[in-house]
Amino acid sequence: MSSEPINHHVPLQPALPSVPHHIGIIMDGNGRWAQSRSLPRLMGHQAGVDNIKRILESCVKHGVKVLTIYAFSTENWHRPPEEVSGLMRLLGLTIQRQLNDLHKNGVRILHSGRMDGIHPQLQNQIRHALEVTRNNQRISLNVAFNYGGRAEILDAMRRVVADGVDPETLTEDLFGQYLYTADLPDPDLIIRTGGEWRLSNFLIWQAAYAEYYTTPTYWPDFDEDELYKALFEYNRRERRFGRVLEK
Ligand code: FPP
Repeated sequence: MSSEPINHHVPLQPALPSVPHHIGIIMDGNGRWAQSRSLPRLMGHQAGVDNIKRILESCVKHGVKVLTIYAFSTENWHRPPEEVSGLMRLLGLTIQRQLNDLHKNGVRILHSGRMDGIHPQLQNQIRHALEVTRNNQRISLNVAFNYGGRAEILDAMRRVVADGVDPETLTEDLFGQYLYTADLPDPDLIIRTGGEWRLSNFLIWQAAYAEYYTTPTYWPDFDEDELYKALFEYNRRERRFGRVLEK
């Protein structure tokens, strides 16, 4: 007799009818994850970086086409200088270590945020990563780095004015073309780890109709099962986009 468990062929995670095209993640809780283990906060961020790979792979498996991650906000400059420089270093190191693999796996890397204020060498690394992966099509990993939603809207507005756009012709679609996310569809689902219920200036224009999901789980512990739970919950929501749905 086979010793295999009888439910061996029953998938633990049944396929979901609807998968978000674009997911945005606020990766919160790295610091608390580290503190709860008596580790320095930066080790929490390192664990957070390691987790990006796991969740990116899981997104590919589910058929998600765009993943935007909030890696460094315009407000994060106010953190202690050693944490700021640590996060900068971490991005540089991650590009150095992971770019080949990401490229081989068909990941297109995008950046949302201001380049101003980022060290020129790191700027070059970012530009290089975008350039190398620009034709990849499996999934787009949009890294929100030195990103703020209000700064993004302001930057867009400045360019609209500089372009001399006639106010009468300015539409939401045209304005969207001036945002960092110009060619991306709006996010369908925003996930926040670490238990808070706020957007923290993340994709504030684009997330107007996104479903919001939060979990107390710290980002480094947010694994494939946690992602599945978020996707499952997304499937229970009825997206109405301001309309009344006919039954
Ligand atoms: C919040 O945790 C997270 C961040 C400030 C940034 C997230 C950054 C990473 C995962 C690493 C950097 C990313 C790349 C791509 C190099 P927190 O410090 O606010 O946690 P806490 O609320 O527990 O203090």
